[in-house]
Amino acid sequence: MMNKRIAICPGSFDCITLGHLDIITRAAAMFDEIIVVAMNNQDKKYTFTSKERIDMIKKSTAGIKNVTVDLYDGLLADYAAKKHASAIIKGLRAMSDFEYEFQMALANKKLNPQVETLFLTTSTENMYLSSSMVKQIAVMGGDVSDFVPPVILDDILKKLSPKAKK
Ligand code: PNS
Repeated sequence: MMNKRIAICPGSFDCITLGHLDIITRAAAMFDEIIVVAMNNQDKKYTFTSKERIDMIKKSTAGIKNVTVDLYDGLLADYAAKKHASAIIKGLRAMSDFEYEFQMALANKKLNPQVETLFLTTSTENMYLSSSMVKQIAVMGGDVSDFVPPVILDDILKKLSPKAKK
């Protein structure tokens, strides 16, 4: 039997958005198995705990058969080797994403030459979407229901909405 083609969708996922879910869904159609892994970006301070971040990913991807969810606190290149992944999948929105993503892809290639980074173009409706935008709107009491998977809307509002009973 041919080896399973495994790809990793890494990110902060603080919180997962419809933009992430679109990339994960499209990646799942191209590989046998997708591992969505919540990792730590040293430059970011997270709003949601690791457990909250992966719980929201699990709920959002529950309908996609070949997706599993994990948490890893270490180098992505090492994680990819550990999982025998052939690809790392990233979504690209505007040119502003490019420089940073390109640098990471080159660093990951140096650290683990076995794994390729593939970029999927964002769908136009998600062009402007980001986790930080979702959080900003939710904190100010705005409606984020068009930006996140419906199954995690309550989790986000409970944590961030000024109207939520704490
Ligand atoms: O969603 P983000 O914040 O753009 O994701 C960035 C992330 C978490 C994928 C990146 O920071 C990462 O890979 N972190 C793990 C540690 C690592 O391997 N750092 C070196 C990357 S070259």
